[in-house]
Amino acid sequence: MSALAIRELSSADFESFSKLVLEIYSENPKATKFSSEPTMEELKALLEKKVALLKRKKIVDYVAVENGKVIGECDIYIGEKSTIGLIVAKGARRKGIGKALLEKSLERAKELGSRSVIAEVHEGNKQALDFFRSNGFVDVGKENDVLLLERAL
Ligand SMILES: CC(C)(COP(=O)(O)OP(=O)(O)OC[C@H]1O[C@@H](n2cnc3c(N)ncnc32)[C@H](O)[C@@H]1OP(=O)(O)O)[C@@H](O)C(=O)NCCC(=O)NCCS
Repeated sequence: MSALAIRELSSADFESFSKLVLEIYSENPKATKFSSEPTMEELKALLEKKVALLKRKKIVDYVAVENGKVIGECDIYIGEKSTIGLIVAKGARRKGIGKALLEKSLERAKELGSRSVIAEVHEGNKQALDFFRSNGFVDVGKENDVLLLERAL
């Protein structure tokens, strides 16, 4: 793998960030927060919202970048119960990118005051459940068809 970097999301990532989110949506809409395929306007608004929240230290948002393109993203919304989202491009999985993004993001969430992080994963999403369970998250509940997994920081 050539020149993989992990850094904060920025407005300049729009093109490859959008491509990644759309790729994940078409693979499994339930792995995203969108209930219908996001438009470019919605993706732009999402990116700008994230960049604004980053400035205010309300979220953690790291991206994995290869050859200038975003191929993975981890966001954590900091709160009483911080919630995490993590996506890696299909062609880049099982190479440790998800784990690298996760650990760096959890470290930052702790710096920002978070004491635990919750992943909300659809019960049919076996790869994500396997990923979180093998990376220190434990099952703490279920809301309809969504499993809640938690890792203390
Ligand atoms: C979940 C996801 C982010 C994992 O990313 P990844 O870069 O492939 O994960 P890693 O390579 O760092 O995996 C670390 C460990 O997690 C476990 N793991 C990851 N994917 C797994 C799978 N499909 N099956 C079983 N275990 C898995 C393994 O223990 C793995 O270590 P190993 O490869 O040495 O066995 C990725 O599969 C993904 O983007 N899925 C679609 C989006 C999604 O569902 N996100 C979660 C919604 S919150």
